[in-house]
Amino acid sequence: MTMLLTALAAYLLGSIPFGIVMARLFGLGDLRAIGSGNIGATNVLRTGNKLAAFLTLLGDSGKGAAAVLLARAIIGEEGAGIAALCAMLGHLYPVFLRFKGGKGVATFLGTLLALSFPVGLLACATWLAVAVLTRYSSLSALVAALMAPIYTAWIYHLHGAIIVLALTGLIFVKHRENIARLRDGTETKIGQKDKKKE
Ligand code: G3P
Repeated sequence: MTMLLTALAAYLLGSIPFGIVMARLFGLGDLRAIGSGNIGATNVLRTGNKLAAFLTLLGDSGKGAAAVLLARAIIGEEGAGIAALCAMLGHLYPVFLRFKGGKGVATFLGTLLALSFPVGLLACATWLAVAVLTRYSSLSALVAALMAPIYTAWIYHLHGAIIVLALTGLIFVKHRENIARLRDGTETKIGQKDKKKE
């Protein structure tokens, strides 16, 4: 019962759409009608409001980390992995937005930082390195997500790597349109505003 309630709490925490909240707070309008239509920090940045984008990044990653830390405190290490999965499912399929959520990158990085800080740092560094080199947020996320299970198996443990692999799969599913645009050469770079709504 404790496990079930903790999983539910992690899902509800993950469901909080910080991008939508920040866009409303800063008077930027409905984020789903802007840029890619995604509810994440990259799309908030397309509005030109860097503070709102930063706070979205902080909120979306913080909720993932909070879910994992909470579950670890209540249940232990096994609960931490389940909470990571539930928080991600919350962000991707949020009950507050009729199950139409975001792509999960910030939440993914937040859960990783809480699961294993060195793994999270390596994943963030990977994201940053690809972003500096290519200026593509989606490509950076995809490469970081691909590397994360390897970092997890190496530094954390194999059981954790299986959970992280599932999160990687979810990130790839949610980036289908981005992958198609990267292939076509039509993907928008970080900060560019002229992306078509998906
Ligand atoms: O963090 C989401 C990012 O990987 C892609 O977002 O808005 O460019 O589709 P977007």
